[in-house]
Amino acid sequence: MTVFDRVLQEVDERCREQHIPMLGSEKAEFLAELVQDAQPTLVVECGTAIGYSGLWMVAALRTTGKGSLITVEIDTGRAHAARENFRSANVANLIDSRVGDATEVLKTIDEPVDFLLLDNNYSNYFPCFRAIESRLTDGATVVADNVGIGAAGMADYLSHVRSHYESSTHWFETDLPWVKRDAMEVTIYRTSR
Ligand SMILES: C[S@@+](CC[C@H](N)C(=O)[O-])C[C@H]1O[C@@H](n2cnc3c(N)ncnc32)[C@H](O)[C@@H]1O
Repeated sequence: MTVFDRVLQEVDERCREQHIPMLGSEKAEFLAELVQDAQPTLVVECGTAIGYSGLWMVAALRTTGKGSLITVEIDTGRAHAARENFRSANVANLIDSRVGDATEVLKTIDEPVDFLLLDNNYSNYFPCFRAIESRLTDGATVVADNVGIGAAGMADYLSHVRSHYESSTHWFETDLPWVKRDAMEVTIYRTSR
């Protein structure tokens, strides 16, 4: 087992033991495939937790041979744990981990963004999307987690992306202790519509 795989396994186990939210391997594998297909230069993640999804996305970036990740977490303790995990997995050089409210932090990102993951409390999805929208590239992939269990809390976001862009819902059976079935929304952003 590589150092990276060992850290990923430890993060997975810690999340399960301490009930720290994370995607789980079924959704994470799908997310990594999306990153690989998109070949993004810059990925932005809202909701780092302790870095599980971030590790999956940078593994995909390493496969494509380019790109980096900016990940934002409001909880200082979790953000520090994530940074430690990124260092241990030897991928810290690919990740800019920021602490703060993503609805505000995203406004400070000036670079073009071609992949966005929304995973930071349902009511934040639409404000985060709006905060980064002017830097999303044409054809950018936008992924929202928990659209099965959290649809009511993100109704503004879902109604917007489903009515304005090519958007599809993907369902997963998971083995997470806290949820057994859930979905992700994948939207292809267009600058002109
Ligand atoms: C579902 S977890 C993220 C899981 C992570 N993406 C993974 O799969 O490993 C949601 C995280 O979003 C954080 N969060 C909640 N509101 C936020 C905000 N406004 N800005 C940034 N992070 C926020 C929470 O503290 C929590 O750690």
